[in-house]
Amino acid sequence: MRDMIDILADLNPAQREAVEAINGPVLILAGPGSGKTRVIAHRVAYLIRVCGVSPHGIMAVTFTNKAAREMEARLHRLVSGSVRDLTLGTFHAICARILRREGRAIGIDPRFVIYDDEDQLSLLKRGIQEVGLDPKQYAPRAIASAITSAKSRMLTPQDYIQSTHSYFEEVVGRVYERYQQLLTESNALDFDDLLMKAVQLFRNSPE
Ligand SMILES: Nc1ncnc2c1ncn2[C@@H]1O[C@H](COP(=O)(O)OP(=O)(O)OP(=O)(O)O)[C@@H](O)[C@H]1O
Ligand SMILES: [Mg+2]
Repeated sequence: MRDMIDILADLNPAQREAVEAINGPVLILAGPGSGKTRVIAHRVAYLIRVCGVSPHGIMAVTFTNKAAREMEARLHRLVSGSVRDLTLGTFHAICARILRREGRAIGIDPRFVIYDDEDQLSLLKRGIQEVGLDPKQYAPRAIASAITSAKSRMLTPQDYIQSTHSYFEEVVGRVYERYQQLLTESNALDFDDLLMKAVQLFRNSPE
């Protein structure tokens, strides 16, 4: 009871309603700075301290690192030590964690390194050269965004190559194929791979 009062005390009526609505999904639409993050933090605390849900069964996903840190700090104040047992982080961080633990099922070596945007661009330049093209003529950034878009549609280089409609797409296909080989040789995943491979893992082995 005390816990419940604590957690609901600093919320306005709409926020309180969102925190207490624990049966089924809830979508919150509200303007910037209106208290959305506060609702999510309090909702997690409510699930743990009032509803008795195990922190191991809760995942809190954010888009940016900054938001993840903020969520962690706020939750620390609300549930202290239980924060450790939550799955809390950005989409990419959580996918990376899952892939290190379970990725073997789809052929991923758990010691993989993660390439950031800069690593990605330099590897792409190498890929462009290795398929016999000039990185000055084919902007690595343009190719990078085409590859990102392919990966977000779960297209492998082979899938992509089979569905090209223009010369540029043909170039992207060739570079994508080489780029992916180079990543594999370095046991590296780029940011898009983290998401794509996690989805692939879930589809492959839902358990
Ligand atoms: N009911 C409330 N009572 C007092 N302060 C509140 C309340 N709700 C939110 N705040 C404060 O208002 C500020 C903004 O809240 P919060 O960060 O949760 O909003 P947000 O909607 O997530 O913002 P953003 O759009 O920037 O992500 C924070 O300092 C928060 O502590
Ligand atoms: Mg917020």
